[in-house]
Amino acid sequence: MRKILVVNSKGGCGKTTIATNLAVALAARGDDVALADADRQKSSLAWVKRRPENLAAIEALNWSKAEAIGGKNKQLDAIVIDGPGGLKSEHAKTLIAEASDIVVPVLASAFDWNATLKFLDDISDIKRVRKGKADIHVVANRINKRSTQVGDLERTLADRGFPLLCRISDRVLYARHAAAGTGVFDYSDSRSYEIRGQWHPLLQAVDS
Ligand SMILES: Nc1ncnc2c1ncn2[C@@H]1O[C@H](COP(=O)(O)OP(=O)(O)OP(=O)(O)O)[C@@H](O)[C@H]1O
Ligand SMILES: [Mg+2]
Repeated sequence: MRKILVVNSKGGCGKTTIATNLAVALAARGDDVALADADRQKSSLAWVKRRPENLAAIEALNWSKAEAIGGKNKQLDAIVIDGPGGLKSEHAKTLIAEASDIVVPVLASAFDWNATLKFLDDISDIKRVRKGKADIHVVANRINKRSTQVGDLERTLADRGFPLLCRISDRVLYARHAAAGTGVFDYSDSRSYEIRGQWHPLLQAVDS
């Protein structure tokens, strides 16, 4: 079973958006998926409650308290974990100890980079990651076509040894999906074909 932790010490970088859409991508192709909410805000749990019944099922797990992490050992293909902010707590350490993949969303705005680079260094230092038992995937989120900052971000990350895996556009449809309990992979309409394509490097990475 894959345990994919979506985490960054920065708030508002798109952890819940990435976690919910990733869970949908896996569920829509037929995987048995749970979405574990490890954030006190419980946005992912609320999103699962809004999810229409006719769409691919996603089980909700409340991991907002450290004692709940892990729990029943069900036969699932994947658990996607919407992580808490920061890594210092025991809660976060327990989550990393469980993860096979760590997805780190980062915004292109320069205000975000120092905190995120420090965060990436911190997770790289964790023994499990050093030993190659958990892979780090950096995802640029809310990318605007007119913005030139993503190129700088990509170079900065590459210089520090963290290649950018994919770029997710800034699109209002993500807010609409969030409100509806859905994700971009619930529908295969041609209008959002390109948007779904942006997720493919991440989907391939968590499959390998
Ligand atoms: N690619 C995107 N395009 C447009 N809006 C986005 C995108 N990603 C996230 N957002 C919006 O940005 C806001 C923050 O995103 P989200 O809640 O996923 O971040 P978060 O890291 O989980 O935040 P928190 O730290 O509060 O848990 C939300 O309003 C969300 O709809
Ligand atoms: Mg969130």
